[in-house]
Amino acid sequence: MKIICAKDYDDMSRKAANVISAQVILKSDSVLGLATGSSPIGTYKQLIEWYNKGDLDFSGCTTFNLDEYRGLQPDHDQSYHYFMHENFFNHVNIPAERINLPRGAEMDAEKECARYDAAIEAAGGVDLQLLGMGLNGHIGFNEPEDCFPKGTHCVDLTTSTIEANKRFFASADDVPRQAYTMGVQTIMRARRILLVVNGENKADIVREAFFGPITPKVPASILQLHNDVTIVADEAALSKCKDLL
Ligand code: GLP
Repeated sequence: MKIICAKDYDDMSRKAANVISAQVILKSDSVLGLATGSSPIGTYKQLIEWYNKGDLDFSGCTTFNLDEYRGLQPDHDQSYHYFMHENFFNHVNIPAERINLPRGAEMDAEKECARYDAAIEAAGGVDLQLLGMGLNGHIGFNEPEDCFPKGTHCVDLTTSTIEANKRFFASADDVPRQAYTMGVQTIMRARRILLVVNGENKADIVREAFFGPITPKVPASILQLHNDVTIVADEAALSKCKDLL
């Protein structure tokens, strides 16, 4: 596990975008696993800037997003489909037919999750998976559990996640209660993983997830077992790990 310390959010975003750029430049038909949340927005902004300069070409890439709220139509302004188009896809040249997200509007969870896993497999698996991390250590929507979930599945969101995500909705009552998410096994199968984390409110969970015991109670802790993980964290997020670095 490689931990890269960034000064602040912008520096973290630039460093993470550099890793993704290198991946796309070295393998133009990369399969990218993408994430939502506030953590990767700066990374997407930086990639768009370099794309506009002519330094990056995504035309050969395929993408798979980690997760999507169950029950939201793709054009709902809080769907991850909408988020990704607003923050990234509308600004770069990934062919629309190679952009993949779980279909939140498909209410048959079993069917949708099986379809999504099969699509990832058919694309040859994820080359580089970008991740953020929730306050309770969740990755994608893999919430703390008694065992690590495997493939794409439907989850009930925890109160902590609903609380954390209500800022994007009119009220906590509007936050969907369920989501489709790649499982921990799906994430661990990615050939490379890049996790971005920033801010003092994540300092405790950063210490627990990356230096504590590997446990499904802290889903991100499993990343300690992956052989190619890069964590780009700002100083605030690493502020409680000073004795360990
Ligand atoms: C959501 C997403 C996660 C994301 C997490 C953290 O729950 N499903 O993929 O990592 O939020 O979000 P943020 O980056 O806004 O802290």
